[in-house]
Amino acid sequence: MSTTRGLEGIVATTSSVSSIIDGVLTYQGYNIDDLADNASFEEVIFLLWNGRLPKQDELSQLTQELANNSQIPQAIIDQMKQYPIDKVHPMAALRSAVSSLALFDEEADVMDEEANRRKAIRLQAQIPTIVTAFSRIREGKEPVSPRSDLSFAANFLYMLNGEVPDQIAVDAIDKALVLHADHELNASTFTARVCVATLSDVYSGITAAIGALKGPLHGGANEAVMKMLTEIGEVENVEGYIRNALDNKVKIMGFGHRVYKDGDPRAKHLREMSKRLTTITGEPKWYEMSVKIDDMVTGEKGLLPNVDFYSASVYHSLGIKHDLFTPIFAVSRTSGWLAHILEQYSDNRLIRPRAEYVGPDKQVYIPMEQR
Ligand code: ACO
Repeated sequence: MSTTRGLEGIVATTSSVSSIIDGVLTYQGYNIDDLADNASFEEVIFLLWNGRLPKQDELSQLTQELANNSQIPQAIIDQMKQYPIDKVHPMAALRSAVSSLALFDEEADVMDEEANRRKAIRLQAQIPTIVTAFSRIREGKEPVSPRSDLSFAANFLYMLNGEVPDQIAVDAIDKALVLHADHELNASTFTARVCVATLSDVYSGITAAIGALKGPLHGGANEAVMKMLTEIGEVENVEGYIRNALDNKVKIMGFGHRVYKDGDPRAKHLREMSKRLTTITGEPKWYEMSVKIDDMVTGEKGLLPNVDFYSASVYHSLGIKHDLFTPIFAVSRTSGWLAHILEQYSDNRLIRPRAEYVGPDKQVYIPMEQR
């Protein structure tokens, strides 16, 4: 048996949800650049789940279903109030709350396709409610109920801040959600598929995926990028900080990618957004620092920024708390996870690879008194 560390280059399934071919990312065959410029997040959800763009009535129906299902049980809010809120990371809170959500869904273990699609709607609708409710609870504020007349992106900001957001912020969040929605067989999506391939339920798959996304080598990198930018503080400190990190072989968060070697196609959109938003907020230094880091890391290591690098300064400019960056990623990626989960159920086979054994051989049991 030969092994491939980290399953690099291994094709583990077929999928029609999204593809990365020659560095080009598509959702159901639509180039991400096209979708980022033109589609709303609700359209992308429909696309990922149905394999085609929605007609107007289909989009209206999905939007209405998401709005109608966005309330979370009071018990989940009460439970979140019991979390040790000053110590808990919002990704850990989200992971626990989504797991608990299953306990209040009578269809949680009903496995037919229609029931799984209904659960997909509920999860997609309720995950933003959980993220925003937890954020408010830990600030000593009451959660804000979602509004059925707002778009998905607008509702997210409304539930977070308790006021209807301006269009610039809505458009930025909407585009960020589109850009993060799916990404072929990334670590969290693979986790979700492995989980549900045992014929476990949708909630288990999403809970497992949230756990995988939380790690700093995956979705957790966007928060780590902002930590780095905050530590650097000013543009003139970039050179010394990055030089020191490179000399000491410290990983620069937000750079590198397992699949893209010529650049992540999502990064340019976020870079543009970062430039625009930091100008509007009057804090261009976050963008300027990012560009300087980008130039150094790209120039010296040949490593290019991934989706997480410029998204950090984008979310910061929208006034979002830094530890909510990864939960926002989860809000978006839930759409992709659900598409993959539905696809996995539709043609399921248990995912069970092998391990090459490298431990000791021919051991003989030694009785306790002789050890
Ligand atoms: N900074 C400095 N060096 C790096 C970086 C980085 N960000 N990324 C990779 N390298 C170096 C490694 O140290 C390694 O060098 P070596 O061969 O001298 O040991 C080489 O490049 C290969 O790196 P690996 O970690 O083996 O690459 P892998 O494909 O396993 O990992 C990953 C990809 C996890 C994204 C990696 O580039 C990384 O850790 N980046 C920083 C974290 C990050 O931004 N994650 C978000 C990824 S996008 C997403 O998940 C949404």
